[in-house]
Amino acid sequence: MRMIKLEAVILAGVLCVVFLLWNVYNPLPNDDAATHRSSSNPVQLLAKATPGHERSPAFAGRSLYLWGDCHRNQSAANVTGFSALPGYLQNFLYYQHCKHFPLLLDLPLKCGGAARSSDVFLLLVIKSSPGNYERRQVLRETWAEERVHRGARIRRVFISGTTGSGFEKLQLNKLLELEHRRHGDILQWDFEDSFFNLTLKQVLFLEWMEDCCPRAHFLLNGDDDIFAHTGNMVDFLKGHDSGQHLFVGHLIENVGPIRERGSKYFVPVQVQTSESYPPYCGGGGYLLSGHTAAVIYNVSKSVALHPIDDVFMGICLAGAGLRPVSHMGVRTAGLHIPSPKVNPHNPCYFKDVLLVHRFLPHQIYIMWEQVHNPALRCWNN
Ligand SMILES: *[C@@H]1O[C@H](CO)[C@@H](O)[C@H](O)[C@H]1NC(C)=O
Ligand SMILES: *[C@@H]1O[C@H](CO)[C@@H](O)[C@H](O)[C@H]1NC(C)=O
Ligand SMILES: *[C@@H]1O[C@H](CO)[C@@H](O)[C@H](O)[C@H]1NC(C)=O
Ligand SMILES: *[C@@H]1O[C@H](CO)[C@@H](O)[C@H](O)[C@H]1NC(C)=O
Repeated sequence: MRMIKLEAVILAGVLCVVFLLWNVYNPLPNDDAATHRSSSNPVQLLAKATPGHERSPAFAGRSLYLWGDCHRNQSAANVTGFSALPGYLQNFLYYQHCKHFPLLLDLPLKCGGAARSSDVFLLLVIKSSPGNYERRQVLRETWAEERVHRGARIRRVFISGTTGSGFEKLQLNKLLELEHRRHGDILQWDFEDSFFNLTLKQVLFLEWMEDCCPRAHFLLNGDDDIFAHTGNMVDFLKGHDSGQHLFVGHLIENVGPIRERGSKYFVPVQVQTSESYPPYCGGGGYLLSGHTAAVIYNVSKSVALHPIDDVFMGICLAGAGLRPVSHMGVRTAGLHIPSPKVNPHNPCYFKDVLLVHRFLPHQIYIMWEQVHNPALRCWNN
């Protein structure tokens, strides 16, 4: 009798451990048995389950985690006119030199490990603030679903910082941790997720990519409120070589910093003296090759952070002697619908685009269903 009880206790214990591990390990969509194999390495499982700064020995070699707190640059306050700047710009100048922050939630096996990351054709890199749970949830079920489209593997990561303070911050961090566990698609760093820190987020992502996903062929870099036709993107990208330069989107040229204090994009002379920006693509979303991502990351190490993230990408491209180009299918400024009388959400306008900016979560959900409806009839068919 005693023996049976003991066995039952042991069995229950084993089941518990198995259950815990199973929960911790977020399975990738099962289109690839090999990715599953490599992600079930127990050492990595445990490392993945440990958010925070301490890393398991398996990861001690990764420099990403070894950066301490970055201190504010007090001399920034000595710049002429500093005290008259809005607080967020003062903060930007105080912390402009800080390019490394600790990773709170990591996905070391998102691409099957660095060596196998060439299996990933299109990596969707979506900027998302912690509170945007509904947006992430809709994207997971629509255009950002991890899948294989015409033989091309699509993977998804949301990139995030922290927001709020005190209890609210803890709650939002908990939310991301739960999503990370359940969906395996959150990268989070310990910095304030604000508009003027988007460039920092971008650079931290490129740093992660070099480490964990260096051979992914192409990236979609975008916001969490876009409608991205990821199927069309794959078709478009298949005609390109990921080892060559590619950077396409909604091209913006011959513009410079906005000097009006009230604007969201206000960039004072204390941040940039020059009156012009190099050509860049609107930050709602753009496509780039793995090659170009690596070049931009390399250049970013020696360039001062610019508060506007899409402009910063343009600055890095220019630094490497490269140019972004325009693609008609990328409409980060919205879609021009010919007449106010027609339904602006007619799926026929969207079935051939690559990307359109500013959709509400429910609109994305509806549009994704509609453009994939085989019964959809448009003018040209
Ligand atoms: C700021 O400028 C003042 C005077 O020019 C100088 O005494 C001080 O050391 C400077 N502070 C920093 C932190 O550089
Ligand atoms: C700190 O700010 C001053 C004034 O803008 C600048 O000259 C200096 O290079 C900055 N230091 C660092 C470490 O970025
Ligand atoms: C960027 O994040 C750092 C670290 O959290 C923070 O100190 C700084 O104020 C933020 N900068 C802006 C402009 O929000
Ligand atoms: C990285 O940038 C440095 C200069 O900033 C350049 O010398 C080097 O060739 C670049 N490396 C790559 C791989 O692009």
